[in-house]
Amino acid sequence: MKILMVCLGNICRSPLAEGILKEKFKQNGIKGTVDSAGTAAYHAGEKPDPRSIEVARKYGIDIKSQTARKFRIEDFDNFDKIFVMDGENFDNIKLVARNNNDIQKVDLILNQAFPDKNLHVPDPYYGGKDGFENVYNMLDNACDVIVEKIKNNNLL
Ligand code: 4NP
Repeated sequence: MKILMVCLGNICRSPLAEGILKEKFKQNGIKGTVDSAGTAAYHAGEKPDPRSIEVARKYGIDIKSQTARKFRIEDFDNFDKIFVMDGENFDNIKLVARNNNDIQKVDLILNQAFPDKNLHVPDPYYGGKDGFENVYNMLDNACDVIVEKIKNNNLL
């Protein structure tokens, strides 16, 4: 299973999602690829935001070796599922999708735990530390559901 996590800058939310899901793949013996990207290139080449590195470290996950990159069209070919954090990410990905098959790979990550609710993982960039903790917990919960679905062969 090849999964891509996408947010706007690829420095706050999607690096956490990548780190959390990679760790759960390891713990559950799931073989696959997990990567992350941003719809914007402002932070390409940068490490994750220090606040994301810190909250991940608190939960035993090391994300500091990640490097931000922009989403690219080949990602539609290289991944089975593309999880976006919010509606703006979804709109941006839809704008570059080539066909319906591309679009069908994309979903809001919180729809895994809360189907059809279209809830967003809030952008924590301009807030405080609490926002990063909140994002971590939302993503941890969503990634638990993703892992259960993969184990049950049920990740659509
Ligand atoms: P992310 O957060 O999309 O979760 O990585 C952001 C990071 C940077 C900016 C916006 C969101 N920015 O505007 O620079």
